[in-house]
Amino acid sequence: MTKKKLHISLYQFIIASLFVVFSFSGAAAQEDATTSDGESSAPVEATDAPADSGAGGNATQGEALFKANCASCHRLYKDAVGPALFNVTQRHDREWLYKWIKNSSALIASGDAEAVALYNEWGQSNMNAFPQLSNSDIDDILAYTDTPKPVATTIERTEEVGGGTVDNTMTNNLVLGALALVLVVLIVVLFAVNTTLKRFAAANGIQTEFEEEKPARTPIWQLFIQNQFLVLVSAVFLLLASAYFVYGGLMSVGVDQGYAPVQPIHYSHRIHAGVSQIECKYCHSSVRESKHAGIPSLNVCMNCHKSIAEVAESTYAEGMEEYGIDYNKEIQKLYKATGWSDAEQAFVGEEEPVRWVRIHNLPDLAYFNHAQHVQAGNIACQTCHGEVQEMEIMYQYSPLTMGWCINCHRETNVDLQGNGYYEEIHKELSEKRGGRQLTIADLGGLECGKCHY
Ligand code: HEC
Ligand code: HEC
Ligand code: HEC
Ligand code: HEC
Ligand code: HEC
Ligand code: HEC
Repeated sequence: MTKKKLHISLYQFIIASLFVVFSFSGAAAQEDATTSDGESSAPVEATDAPADSGAGGNATQGEALFKANCASCHRLYKDAVGPALFNVTQRHDREWLYKWIKNSSALIASGDAEAVALYNEWGQSNMNAFPQLSNSDIDDILAYTDTPKPVATTIERTEEVGGGTVDNTMTNNLVLGALALVLVVLIVVLFAVNTTLKRFAAANGIQTEFEEEKPARTPIWQLFIQNQFLVLVSAVFLLLASAYFVYGGLMSVGVDQGYAPVQPIHYSHRIHAGVSQIECKYCHSSVRESKHAGIPSLNVCMNCHKSIAEVAESTYAEGMEEYGIDYNKEIQKLYKATGWSDAEQAFVGEEEPVRWVRIHNLPDLAYFNHAQHVQAGNIACQTCHGEVQEMEIMYQYSPLTMGWCINCHRETNVDLQGNGYYEEIHKELSEKRGGRQLTIADLGGLECGKCHY
């Protein structure tokens, strides 16, 4: 009787524990989802947060205004020419802030005690007047300055640029690890419970069935096999685990999507192609007529960088705050590599080539031609490489698998509009096909020989 009871409570314990484990992992996964959600919608949250505090500004617009007007003198979390502006709304009354930002000199001249004190504290340096800003503009800016400093996540996010694949496996591994740990702890606890119960039984003079029927101790694996429920649970667990690893293994074969190696010089496409709006083809010039897009030589960089030794202060601040990169040091690396001396304005040192790490790389068996796609096909770089002008660190955006090439060839219509390359062939083919739109596949874009040597 007692033995049966003991067994039932053990079962109940196991089932309850498993339930706890799975609900724990479910919660973890959910948390995962919300955090990644939260990250992608960070700017939206930032907009909402100050709205709650009653100001009703739009932080995203505020950020743009701040960068255009204030960033040359102010940073959010560090003093610069002027004080750090984070939480400035807590230091001053809103009406006061409107007046101050629109015309601080006037406010100081009017003898406002708060303004005069501030002015003196900052060595009587003058802040520009901004009469053009409306109160709602200023609300936007203040909403932005009220956004709390992103903690730690900034670092994760820069590393996670590659679509988060690395990050995901990381969290998956963490969850798996935690599960394993919990299981081990469970086993230990079960053993402890078991021995304690046995000791109790012995102390109370209750004979358990094991001792009656099998005086010799049954090996643990035999007990395990006899317990069908345990066998079932472990089998399911093993299956799930191996499926997970096999899937992970298969997915990593030859697919380098998201690959973002650390380059010898931190070169930001965001700053060059995005903020400074330099044409892709200015640097990747061979893309027009050759198979390769090519990486620019350092001469191309020096066309500009002979006279750009330092980035703007706001850019510098952004680099340190958002990416933890000292942009000016990176430009010094460029000078070192080209032997340029900024002081003497001449090439004096030795040249040492920069070894950029190649990111996109098809296997030798495949043939891909840039000019054909960019010039003849009229496809934007971004279709295949993603929003490069927003990438602080370059990464592989597309999978670059055969399926990816083929899908696009099947789905993309040939851009015939004013396209001299196709005049002849278009006439011929459309006669044959009754004027239907042509896909690349119709041109022979699915023939093995076109892509394989
Ligand atoms: C030319 C540099 C400069 C620019 C541009 C500038 N500020 Fe200032 N700001 C200062 C200085 C310097 C102070 C400190 C007070 C003083 O010396 O006048 C200051 C003070 C402030 C303060 C008070 C801070 C505190 O801690 O009490 C606020 C708010 C402020 N600025 C907002 C702005 C906003 C918003 C913009 C952009 C629209 C802006 N500033 C643009 C230089 C500048
Ligand atoms: C000022 C010069 C410059 C401009 C402008 C520029 N790039 Fe680049 N690009 C580089 C350099 C240098 C590298 C190598 C370093 C790196 O990968 O970050 C590079 C690397 C790349 C790579 C990865 C190459 C590899 O290793 O596989 C791609 C793709 C790319 N650029 C696309 C673009 C696109 C698209 C644009 C326009 C939106 C653009 N680039 C604008 C200089 C430039
Ligand atoms: C058409 C002009 C131009 C060319 C060409 C150019 N740059 Fe720049 N670069 C700039 C400007 C402008 C800035 C500073 C932007 C700022 O201050 O906000 C800059 C900033 C930088 C920085 C600091 C920010 C960062 O990206 O890390 C580095 C490093 C840099 N350039 C390297 C290079 C290299 C390497 C090349 C050649 C592949 C190159 N630049 C080509 C204009 C250029
Ligand atoms: C149809 C898709 C597609 C388009 C459009 C495209 N690329 Fe590429 N790009 C690729 C592939 C695929 C590779 C890998 C090529 C290889 O390994 O041979 C690549 C590689 C590169 C590289 C690495 C060096 C090289 O030449 O192999 C650079 C740089 C690059 N692309 C820049 C650009 C720029 C700049 C544009 C726009 C003017 C552009 N790409 C448009 C698919 C594309
Ligand atoms: C974004 C869509 C897109 C992707 C992705 C793409 N292509 Fe293309 N491809 C085109 C277009 C559009 C043309 C038509 C240009 C032409 O016919 O000259 C083309 C033409 C070609 C041709 C010439 C076909 C013919 O009949 O002349 C080859 C070869 C080719 N692509 C190879 C590749 C390879 C290899 C990949 C993958 C690494 C790839 N393409 C990925 C859109 C794409
Ligand atoms: C539009 C271009 C394109 C066409 C058409 C094409 N392939 Fe491919 N194929 C590729 C690319 C790109 C790769 C490399 C993919 C990778 O690295 O993951 C590849 C890879 C392969 C591989 C795998 C090689 C390996 O390393 O495992 C085989 C096999 C293959 N192709 C056979 C064919 C056959 C057979 C055909 C004709 C029915 C064909 N391909 C048509 C672009 C093409």
